[in-house]
Amino acid sequence: MKPILVLHGPNLNLLGSREPEVYGHQSLADIDESLIERGRHLDLDVTTYQSNHEGALVEMIQGAVKKYKGLIINPAAYTHASIAIRDALMILDIPVIEVHLSNIYKREPFRHQSMISDVVTGKIVGLGADGYLLALEALARRIHHKNERKR
Ligand code: DQA
Repeated sequence: MKPILVLHGPNLNLLGSREPEVYGHQSLADIDESLIERGRHLDLDVTTYQSNHEGALVEMIQGAVKKYKGLIINPAAYTHASIAIRDALMILDIPVIEVHLSNIYKREPFRHQSMISDVVTGKIVGLGADGYLLALEALARRIHHKNERKR
């Protein structure tokens, strides 16, 4: 099984109770569980991690070098502000998928800007928790089919 890292940013630990009309009713534990389960079917060993701290996320990204074959990241509010997360992602040479539960382009203008969209492989927004599962499938294709573009 190929190792995959899934990173969740600040406040995503409150999924299910936090603005469910925007972010859905599933808890983060539910989402992580479904990713681990789908990963098993896709021959991917999924590790998940959530932090409310920018530096902790940066350290996980740095640690992903040589350790993981793909990364899914929802940096939450740091999406719109963190040059540190952007710089860390640029160190990686594995496929990286940016995921947002909500459609950030339908929301406040400050959410329309992402600091990372131009340094990731691809991005999924507005599909709720399905976005993570679709990102995992996209990673599986890239990782298992050697002729596909990696990054
Ligand atoms: C989010 C969108 C961000 O703007 C927001 O700060 C979040 C979650 C999403 O998944 O839709 O915390 O990344």
